[in-house]
Amino acid sequence: MRILRTAADINFKLEDLPRVPHADQVLMVDPADFDVLYAINPHMLDEDGNLLAVDRTEARRQWWCLREAVESLGIHVDVAPPLEGFPDVVFCANQALPLSSAITGGQAVAIASHMANEQRAGEVPHIISYLRELGYQPSALKHRNLRLEGTGDGLFHPGRRLLWAGVGQRSEEGAWLEIAQRFNLTVALLPLADPDFYHLDTALAILSEDACLWFPQAFTPEARELIEALIPMRIEAPEDEARHLFACNAFSPDGETVLLQRGSEVTNERLTSAGFRVLELDTSEFLKSGGSVFCMKLHHGPY
Ligand code: ARG
Repeated sequence: MRILRTAADINFKLEDLPRVPHADQVLMVDPADFDVLYAINPHMLDEDGNLLAVDRTEARRQWWCLREAVESLGIHVDVAPPLEGFPDVVFCANQALPLSSAITGGQAVAIASHMANEQRAGEVPHIISYLRELGYQPSALKHRNLRLEGTGDGLFHPGRRLLWAGVGQRSEEGAWLEIAQRFNLTVALLPLADPDFYHLDTALAILSEDACLWFPQAFTPEARELIEALIPMRIEAPEDEARHLFACNAFSPDGETVLLQRGSEVTNERLTSAGFRVLELDTSEFLKSGGSVFCMKLHHGPY
């Protein structure tokens, strides 16, 4: 295993890391119970400190548009049932970290998250049992006290045996160290430095093997240098789009198309001039909960 904390820890090139197949499946959760019923991140309250009101009909429509956009790219979408009393379960990037069979070298494994906020703890068994049906072997951290929020903070580099790991707000360094050791992984630790960017996926989207979309100020200087050292093409989202439109919570299912929150105009232009095809989607109802395109799904497989 190899733990990267600063650019000085890198003694290899991205191309030297073993190849792994790209994730090829998407899981989404029926948004029937989506709502904002508590505040566990700064985006869920208005200026007066009240919970934001969700239009559930509009939320369902937006969720369907995302689902159809993913399917239009030829990607299979499984849909897990909703879970009554759990308004955030729709953000199914968070409850598990799936490790493909190529990563484990055997059966695919789904590591159960340990959510930072107790309001979300009951979502974990629901998603884990769905992943078990899909063929993942459920597994837990040995150190069960350590916090971990799945692919909200753990992003596998597309096509390479490398895990980018957000640290400090929802997931703890110790959890990543345990996973690195158990699966003999290279893990780049990225401390997050701004409470608005509380998951790694709010500040970094790895779009393809050599390109990412990011908001550098969300990271510590060491984390920024790690990303700069390993990802040659970095597209920066401007602050207003990153902070208020969650532009970096974008998703490229195929390395060519980027699904992006509507209205992220500068980000769209920058992605387009870098050669990406951009599909803008409206996730405004989910932004009220501090989530957008990337965290409304789990990108996983092959298993
Ligand atoms: N309200 C949810 C929370 O704060 C939103 C989660 C969004 N997920 C994400 N990966 N950014 O936990």
